[in-house]
Amino acid sequence: MIKGKFITLEGGEGAGKSTQARLLATWLETRGHKTMVTREPGGSPLAENIRGLLLNPAAERPDALTEALLFNAARRDHLGKVIQPALMAGTTVICDRFADSTRAYQGAGGQLDPAAVDALEQLVVGEARPDLTIILDLPVETGLQRAAARHSATSGTAARDRFEAEDLAFHQRLREAFMVIAAREPQRCAFIDARPAPEIVAAAVCQAVASRLGL
Ligand code: TYD
Repeated sequence: MIKGKFITLEGGEGAGKSTQARLLATWLETRGHKTMVTREPGGSPLAENIRGLLLNPAAERPDALTEALLFNAARRDHLGKVIQPALMAGTTVICDRFADSTRAYQGAGGQLDPAAVDALEQLVVGEARPDLTIILDLPVETGLQRAAARHSATSGTAARDRFEAEDLAFHQRLREAFMVIAAREPQRCAFIDARPAPEIVAAAVCQAVASRLGL
């Protein structure tokens, strides 16, 4: 059995990653590829518990290193228990956020020392890096408006989670960090404009997957 491909979706708030993950999975399934969609933080029972700790808006915010350790602990469990076994079974894995989110949110956003971010990534992810990372890019204001609209549609309020509630400068640092990641690793990363309608973005995502991974 050939090992499955590991695809991650990254971007700031409201970029439409979850929608694109679903659309990409459907497209891959219709082309005969067994596909699994998962997400971070979370994706395994322990990692989902850690997610609850990290995203609870009522909890006191830890410092960026503590946050990075928790995201990485969740990632390690998710990778070992869910992602790698699926890849070994030949399944294509689509993960909504992965290690680049730690680089952007805790590194650029939280201003954690890049050497610490790199060291943790090397320890936790090592050779298990994604085959392809789709970075969905959107102006910060548009993304935050979309995220707020999604909350009011689902909960009747515009309640924001911990990271959405950060100021504009934080979100601008995230956007720039994802641009830097895409520019530094053009082989691994496809940088896609997330402003058009979801079907248009999905076509660009599928095209990137087909051309870069031959799926
Ligand atoms: P989620 O509700 O999944 O939001 P989104 O739809 O934006 O992905 O919440 C995940 C949040 O956690 C999101 O704001 C980004 C943040 N995050 C980090 O700060 N570091 C990380 O390593 C990961 C994976 C996520």
